[in-house]
Amino acid sequence: MVATELRSPVSMRRFVIIGQKATASGDFRLDDLAGTSGRLDVLLRCIRSAILISHGVRSDVVVYLVLRGGTRAPRVLRVEAAATKFLRPDERSLATLVKKALEAQAEGEDNGFIDVRPGLSVRRGGLDEIVAELGDARLFVLEPTGADLRLAADLSGTDATFVVGDHLGLDDTTRARLAGLGAVSLRVGPVAIHADDVVTVVSNELDRRSTGRP
Ligand SMILES: C[S@@+](CC[C@H](N)C(=O)[O-])C[C@H]1O[C@@H](n2cnc3c(N)ncnc32)[C@H](O)[C@@H]1O
Repeated sequence: MVATELRSPVSMRRFVIIGQKATASGDFRLDDLAGTSGRLDVLLRCIRSAILISHGVRSDVVVYLVLRGGTRAPRVLRVEAAATKFLRPDERSLATLVKKALEAQAEGEDNGFIDVRPGLSVRRGGLDEIVAELGDARLFVLEPTGADLRLAADLSGTDATFVVGDHLGLDDTTRARLAGLGAVSLRVGPVAIHADDVVTVVSNELDRRSTGRP
């Protein structure tokens, strides 16, 4: 296994999903994913929403799952769309792929991301360990109380990172850290919706802007 820097130096969309209790180990049951994984299923649906389109992937997307639950926490799983293989939309396939990635004994993951599957890498740590990798990307935190996404200044064409909570939302410490990093709070609408739906709406907005075909 090899340590990797991000492969694509050009403009990217990044999503960071904070899993408050999502397991950082592969120690969960595929036949009871939601009940045995600290709701890793929520995070897997976010991968699907961010990356998979009909018959393909958005190759400029990177998703980080911040995994704060289970025996191997804290750990981050990084999914680079451009390098993935065998990424399928159904939850069981995604869960199988992620389970294998999390089961890997990734030597060196204390110091950086280690490839464990094509496009999938893991590292020890949490939000703070990702921040260095985001570089100059503008940082947004998704919250129902934020400013309207539709009215946000141009979001396409340059790097942007969007942080989303899981079913438990974002904890105060994470909010404070994001505020300290200058994150701008955005809402996709007035009603609190599921995390993967938020990722879908943000992705749709970015698709509309980046293609110039609203
Ligand atoms: C299911 S919600 C979390 C609900 C949780 N009970 C709470 O009170 O925060 C999951 C995440 O989606 C995002 N979210 C939900 N609705 C949103 C909205 N209307 N606009 C922006 N982000 C939203 C937030 O990041 C939230 O943490």
